[in-house]
Amino acid sequence: MLNILFAASEVVPFAKTGGLADVAGTLPEYLVKNGCSVRVFLPYYSTIQVDVRKVSLVVDSVDISVGDTVHRAEIWEVQTSSPVRVYLVRCDFFFRRVSLYGTPDGDYPDNAQRFILFSKAVFEFCYRSGFVPDIMHCHDWQTGLIPAYLKTICRVRDNPLRECRSVFTIHNMAYQGVFPREDFSLTGLPDSVFGITGLEFWGKMNMLKSGILYADRVTTVSEQYSREIQTPEYGCGLEGVLRDRRNDLHGILNGVDYDVWNPARDPHISAVYDPSDLAGKKKCKTALLKEFGLPGLLAEKPLIGIVSRLAAQKGFDLIEKCFEELMQQDIGLVVLGAGDAPYQDMLERFARAYPDRAGVVIGYDNVLAHKIEAGSDMFLMPSQYEPCGLNQIFSLKYGTVPIVRATGGLDDSIVDYDPKTGQGTGFKFAEYKAAALLRTVKRALKFYHKPDHWERIMLNGMACDFSWTESAGKYVRLYKETLKKSVGLSANQ
Ligand code: ADP
Ligand code: GLC
Repeated sequence: MLNILFAASEVVPFAKTGGLADVAGTLPEYLVKNGCSVRVFLPYYSTIQVDVRKVSLVVDSVDISVGDTVHRAEIWEVQTSSPVRVYLVRCDFFFRRVSLYGTPDGDYPDNAQRFILFSKAVFEFCYRSGFVPDIMHCHDWQTGLIPAYLKTICRVRDNPLRECRSVFTIHNMAYQGVFPREDFSLTGLPDSVFGITGLEFWGKMNMLKSGILYADRVTTVSEQYSREIQTPEYGCGLEGVLRDRRNDLHGILNGVDYDVWNPARDPHISAVYDPSDLAGKKKCKTALLKEFGLPGLLAEKPLIGIVSRLAAQKGFDLIEKCFEELMQQDIGLVVLGAGDAPYQDMLERFARAYPDRAGVVIGYDNVLAHKIEAGSDMFLMPSQYEPCGLNQIFSLKYGTVPIVRATGGLDDSIVDYDPKTGQGTGFKFAEYKAAALLRTVKRALKFYHKPDHWERIMLNGMACDFSWTESAGKYVRLYKETLKKSVGLSANQ
């Protein structure tokens, strides 16, 4: 049996700001179904509400140095009904905060320290408990140092983790964990690790680069994105580093959790429905309009839904450019989003301009996200880039037709509708231009008004299977291949 240690900064149902949490919370369940034993680690943020009777202290008071400062940490295990074991790294000095990474004014200034401590705590757990994973599977910059620790500090004869391999998954190239050069001394890594073939990035320390360089295998969350990030347009300055590692770089499309995202048994929606009877979807639309305070008559018009982090990545600048023309199309629009203040202001302006047709909720609301998936006719995701994207995949299952830009995982998961063959699950455009977005919405609306075509598109999408089964199998094969490679120092040391 393969022993896998997962390390991530967010994991459902404990802490979430985006899709990373969905992946880190669900993939382990499927790895277990594929014969792995999985232990998942995340920080014990004060926002995590677990019943005190359901957590037990497994590592009591361990001193962890971050540079010259020693912090006391604890590791708690959560009792869950799942075979996946979940551990929370507690250090109130770093994780007793209102949010995960920062405030609307910016990132917490000590994020390097916070995630160095988290990474080191994962090692302390192994040393103290005697747990020796076959693979440490790390996610995003917050855990990017772990592969570097494994390849340096642990690669000595008497270290119990000397044989442990690492897989590093990139969920988003735009968040790299770049910190001042001086912060490198906080890591405790040997000086040789800093430099152009190491963590150095334009004079600073880059924790994503660390994961890419030192992991035995690197993955990202769609095949298309694995190709895109090797180009200057999408590589965010690390395209050369990724090209150097192209033989070890794999794109594995995320799956979704159909136990949670399924209109046939979703407890959050007004009426359940499935491909054999779509009547419930109409009820969901009516209830959704009511929830947004929009007139019931709008139920007769096509309704476009958006659920998104409000970030430049998600294409809101395109929506801004063509918003007036979009609203001339006699549609309804409902948006749920949290994030950057300028996009919040923009959306609120839209809602004020069209109070009878556009509804906006600013905030993070999981239940409302489900209601939008169920009650909308179309789901808009005009992303500038999208490593995978989960909402368009949820939308397919809810018969909510995705309109997406053909990039990354959006391109890999959505097939453009072809009226001649009746094949296709949504509508795609390639150019990152407002005119292309508008044209594509108009094309979707044309078919919306042809119910035979529309039902066909909906049913095509609802029949798709993006469960984790296949992708989890790919990860297990990758783990096994990784284990075949002998340990030793990587070429860059
Ligand atoms: P990203 O990780 O880039 O934000 P994904 O599409 O992979 O994009 O995943 C986003 C996840 O976060 C989905 O589960 C989505 O439903 C959820 N989500 C995003 N914004 C909100 C919000 N404002 N309220 C509730 N859920 C949200
Ligand atoms: C990131 C990406 C998103 C992806 C998610 C989970 O947040 O922006 O496209 O689906 O990670 O991998």
